Amino acid sequence: MATTTKTREREAALARVIAVVNDKGGVGKTSLAANLGGQFAGAGYRCLLIDLNRQANLADDLGYRGTDIDDEGAGLLTSVLARTPLVPARDVRPQLDVVCGGARLEDLTPVMVSRLQHHGREAFRVLGDVLAPVAADYELIFIDCPPESTILTDLALGSARWVLMPTKSDLGGLLGMTLVAERFALAREINERLGLLGVVLFATGSRARAIQGEALAAIDEAFGGTSPRFETSIRHAERTAQDARRLGRLAHELEVEAAAQPAWWEELRSGTRSKRISETAASVAGDYRALGLEVLSALQAAETAEKPRGRRRRGAQR
Ligand SMILES: Nc1ncnc2c1ncn2[C@@H]1O[C@H](COP(=O)(O)OP(=O)(O)OP(=O)(O)O)[C@@H](O)[C@H]1O
Ligand SMILES: [Mg+2]
Repeated sequence: MATTTKTREREAALARVIAVVNDKGGVGKTSLAANLGGQFAGAGYRCLLIDLNRQANLADDLGYRGTDIDDEGAGLLTSVLARTPLVPARDVRPQLDVVCGGARLEDLTPVMVSRLQHHGREAFRVLGDVLAPVAADYELIFIDCPPESTILTDLALGSARWVLMPTKSDLGGLLGMTLVAERFALAREINERLGLLGVVLFATGSRARAIQGEALAAIDEAFGGTSPRFETSIRHAERTAQDARRLGRLAHELEVEAAAQPAWWEELRSGTRSKRISETAASVAGDYRALGLEVLSALQAAETAEKPRGRRRRGAQR
């Protein structure tokens, strides 16, 4: 009885944990986690980002690399080792906290290999165990997963309620999804509530969208059914992406800065060249906004369908 209550409490706390996963590198996992988390936080939702990457690109996208809050993954490592609650760094933006990734996560893999030998796949529940005590502070939690790192991604799949999968429509992105689909099935042995929230096409030009049909059929096959997919795709916008990572700003922040910069003709008039922020930032930010809305309604639809077993989220719509 006590165990059931405990399990329910854990499930409820982790009900809006979304792992952003694809085993292929460079398909937009970090960009999605950062921008969705950033926009939801900007809209007033309490959000947490968890970085499971050794290269910690979230630190670049949010501009905190090398600052006081950047512990390079030490806090996450300690929590998993000692099985103590995570201690997020507060307010990387208003309403947005972060559990940093970085080089210290190297040490997680051998620890998990050893635990796996002793406890089997149950060992992958540990991230959920250390996250659950703080998860109630947040309305949305995104886990940015690494490429090609089975054990760290398995940790995310062992704790998350949902998988959000960005892909490019090329073969590499799809192969990455197929690999995740296999691990998804294994993860459900210890985390039966894990579900696929949806697939989102990332940085895909309009010509590439034409081959979507084939690509999406491959996704369905990999997940063994009709996989949910988001209507919105994130447009290809290389300059905005470069501005974002170089300046440590999210697309919607660049949107504001682009709108505030001097008119283009000022350069000609003054005869001085300035490094301008690409105006495309506004369109990219709009894509993330549209995707955020879809994510929210997918969550709400799933939660409504689940009631009364699930619980209503605190102030999900403000
Ligand atoms: N809208 C966009 N259009 C084009 N390129 C983009 C866009 N958004 C981000 N990028 C760039 O695409 C690359 C991959 O993005 P990102 O780092 O988000 O992918 P990832 O899946 O997290 O990669 P990794 O697997 O290495 O962690 C980065 O160089 C990023 O700057
Ligand atoms: Mg990444």
